[in-house]
Amino acid sequence: MSPGVHTVAVIGAGKIGELMLSGLLRSGWPVDRLLATARRPARAEELTARYGVRVVDNLTAVDEAAVLAVSVKPQDAAALLDEIGPKVPADKLVISLCAGLPTSFFNRRLPEGTPVVRVMTNTPALVDEAMTAISAGAYATGAHLALAEEMFKPLGQTIRVPESQQDAVTALSGSGPAYFYLLVEAMIDAGILLGLPRQVAHELIVQTAIGSAVMLRDSGEHPVKLREAVTSPAGTTISAIRELEKHGVRAALLAALEAARDRARELAAQSD
Ligand SMILES: NC(=O)c1ccc[n+]([C@@H]2O[C@H](COP(=O)([O-])OP(=O)(O)OC[C@H]3O[C@@H](n4cnc5c(N)ncnc54)[C@H](OP(=O)(O)O)[C@@H]3O)[C@@H](O)[C@H]2O)c1
Repeated sequence: MSPGVHTVAVIGAGKIGELMLSGLLRSGWPVDRLLATARRPARAEELTARYGVRVVDNLTAVDEAAVLAVSVKPQDAAALLDEIGPKVPADKLVISLCAGLPTSFFNRRLPEGTPVVRVMTNTPALVDEAMTAISAGAYATGAHLALAEEMFKPLGQTIRVPESQQDAVTALSGSGPAYFYLLVEAMIDAGILLGLPRQVAHELIVQTAIGSAVMLRDSGEHPVKLREAVTSPAGTTISAIRELEKHGVRAALLAALEAARDRARELAAQSD
């Protein structure tokens, strides 16, 4: 199996599945090597209109594709696998994008020996800045991981992690964009409180977020060092930081990510 020469089917092409389809197309994956499935006919028409991709039923996708990228909600995965599981030949590669579901969940419902790769990506895939963590299930080889990497590299960065770390990955980078959006939203409100027009506050904080992210990525410095460089003695920044600490922002983040990790585990337990 090598990129572009086999057919990939995105099973349950909702928000994340669509990100994957559009990313593969942007990276030059031939549209006639892509298939999608959807539950509602209106969604199928939308996907074909937007991407020219052929939308088929789940069993046709299983038949025609070498790689099945499952991107239904975790709670819909069992019903989907009841339908397709027994029909999947064990030489197909199954890539799961479902938060929380372990590869063993798939392997119990697929023929013995089917390779499953678990992937957790995030929505910045839309602008080719995703963070995608990839783990091998019991029967997935290095070649399967490499293929999954090739498929997700055009969408941003990829990293290999042991599957035992995937619930933490889900909490950190899978849900991560939402935390940043919430912070930005709160800072825009703060700008308005200080008398700035909404649009000005928005522009100031969005560019500050981008600049800070690029510094974090490119300087190689620890975030503490970068923060210290903005924090002069008896200055404005330390006054703000005292308030952040007083209001428990750090503790809130620790608790929030733990809650996200626990929810990922709960969803997996409910889906089983
Ligand atoms: N959203 C995120 O930021 C994010 C990030 C990382 C991972 N994920 C994971 O990605 C997966 C998908 O999430 P999402 O936000 O993309 O959800 P979504 O937009 O609801 O997409 C799921 C799609 O699957 C379709 N579907 C469900 N059962 C089906 C079946 N049996 N056959 C064919 N299609 C079926 C649904 O069709 P209908 O629309 O007709 O119901 C829907 O279009 C989840 O497992 C989630 O954990 C999401």
